[in-house]
Amino acid sequence: MVRTVIVGTGCHLPARVLTNQDLEKMVDTSDEWITTRSGIKERRISSKDEPCSFLATQAAKKALDMAGIKAAELDMIIVCTLTPDMLMPTAACLVQKNLGAERAAAFDLSAACSGFLYGLATADNFIRNNINFKILVIGAEVLSCRVNWKDRNTSVLFGDGAGAVVVTGRNGRRGILSNHLHADGALWKLLHIPGGGCVSPPSRQMLDDNLQYIHMQGRDVFKLAVRAMEESAREALEANNLSPQDIDLYIPHQANIRIINSIAERLQLPREKVYVNIHKYGNTSAATVPIALDEANREGRIREGDLIMLNAFGGGFTWGASLIRW
Ligand code: ACO
Repeated sequence: MVRTVIVGTGCHLPARVLTNQDLEKMVDTSDEWITTRSGIKERRISSKDEPCSFLATQAAKKALDMAGIKAAELDMIIVCTLTPDMLMPTAACLVQKNLGAERAAAFDLSAACSGFLYGLATADNFIRNNINFKILVIGAEVLSCRVNWKDRNTSVLFGDGAGAVVVTGRNGRRGILSNHLHADGALWKLLHIPGGGCVSPPSRQMLDDNLQYIHMQGRDVFKLAVRAMEESAREALEANNLSPQDIDLYIPHQANIRIINSIAERLQLPREKVYVNIHKYGNTSAATVPIALDEANREGRIREGDLIMLNAFGGGFTWGASLIRW
């Protein structure tokens, strides 16, 4: 049976660190509030020289290096992002140029914080049809450009970064076991960026009304995220006749430590089986899962044969889970 295997991982974070203490000087907040409510201690912020495509390219180079695959061998590049460098061209085309991946088709995929899971599932389907395909799937975000730095409800939560994987096909039992994707557009207003699209195109009025920024009903999003992530995690396990006890490492979207802890408790996962790095980077949307996957991989937390679960929830709403036999 052809399965999609992850043969390389990489990540890249901007150099600039913005701590909770720095934020105390910018908005009416405290390190204590941010830490207890979200688990975040600091996040990374891109400079003008570090746009989405740059972060994505740096992460991709490390993943290709680990995979031992040259950029020229790639068949496809998928960049999962809601903050591309510009509306056209896609960030994926700029990554293709940066890497010199002449053979690769390239496109962006927009599914907010679940973007990487949607991208991985897309790549998985191409590879099941062609075992030799080599695909780069990247989650990359510069959310700092969509955060209202005067709004304490959102500014403390988000950060910038990128994570990447290289996937290809192999025969055997290792690889992606299944992907489970969901969406509910009816609830879009609870988490959205209203300005900059065709409904509210860029204008002075749009900027005056702060429509270019993330608008979020945090409490509602929190409850929905816990329920949806748990349900999709269970769905993935049931589809493979597995139980939560079979998971060796659970890698959830890093939006809030309390969301992560709630799901871990519901699934009865011990702390050592749950990967957490939210304290260092905050919520980097589509990038949290591949960054965490790369860090876990390089720290030796993942061994061949381990059962890995990826689980995410984001704007749209979108959510899902992927199970991987490493
Ligand atoms: N510092 C101090 N006080 C604050 C801050 C802050 N940074 N932000 C909000 N507060 C205040 C609020 O104004 C409120 O005060 P009030 O009671 O006087 O009105 C109080 O703190 C409590 O606010 P709540 O919203 O109840 O706080 P909650 O415990 O829900 O935590 C949070 C807020 C962290 C936003 C949480 O709801 C959350 O993480 N939600 C989920 C976010 C998420 O998962 N997003 C996922 C997808 S993101 C994407 O797709 C791009």
